[in-house]
Amino acid sequence: MAKIELRNVSKRFGNTTVLENLNLTIADGQFTVLIGASGCGKTTLLRMIAGIGPQTSGQVLLDDRDISDLPPGKRDLAMVFQNYAIYPTMSVRGNIEYGLKNKKVPAEERKRLIEEISEILGITEYLDRRPSQLSGGQRQRVALARAMVKKPKVF
Ligand SMILES: Nc1ncnc2c1ncn2[C@@H]1O[C@H](COP(=O)(O)OP(=O)(O)O)[C@@H](O)[C@H]1O
Ligand SMILES: [Mg+2]
Repeated sequence: MAKIELRNVSKRFGNTTVLENLNLTIADGQFTVLIGASGCGKTTLLRMIAGIGPQTSGQVLLDDRDISDLPPGKRDLAMVFQNYAIYPTMSVRGNIEYGLKNKKVPAEERKRLIEEISEILGITEYLDRRPSQLSGGQRQRVALARAMVKKPKVF
């Protein structure tokens, strides 16, 4: 894992300021929860860290490296959205395997990683099902597995 640091980060949408001069350090390996009223800026902050909704001003650092201008694909981090975007036509196994194939992980290693992460998330028995045959919570766990299996620096 990695340390995340936000320095004087602000985010505006037009005339609306959602975040203003936010300073926050999240230590390596720390499990952090953001709590706040609906619309206060939690998702905006996560999107900023992931790089999909960049800050208006300020810096985002990963392990002391300024990643403010890096595109999402180069940040080595993973995010799971509230409306888990899993592929409906693929099996659970196919969904988890997808990113590993993109990363050119060999088949044997993919199989091992899928088994390891499925065990942790308690979805081993659903690997051959389609997402439509799962409950909401089970689908959420598939989305988590898909992000975690790639072992990103930040999750
Ligand atoms: N693309 C956008 N354009 C304008 N306003 C936005 C946009 N995205 C979010 N907002 C506003 O920013 C505020 C924070 O939203 P958000 O971070 O999604 O809140 P939450 O804490 O519930 O996750 C809200 O007032 C929302 O309406
Ligand atoms: Mg939100």
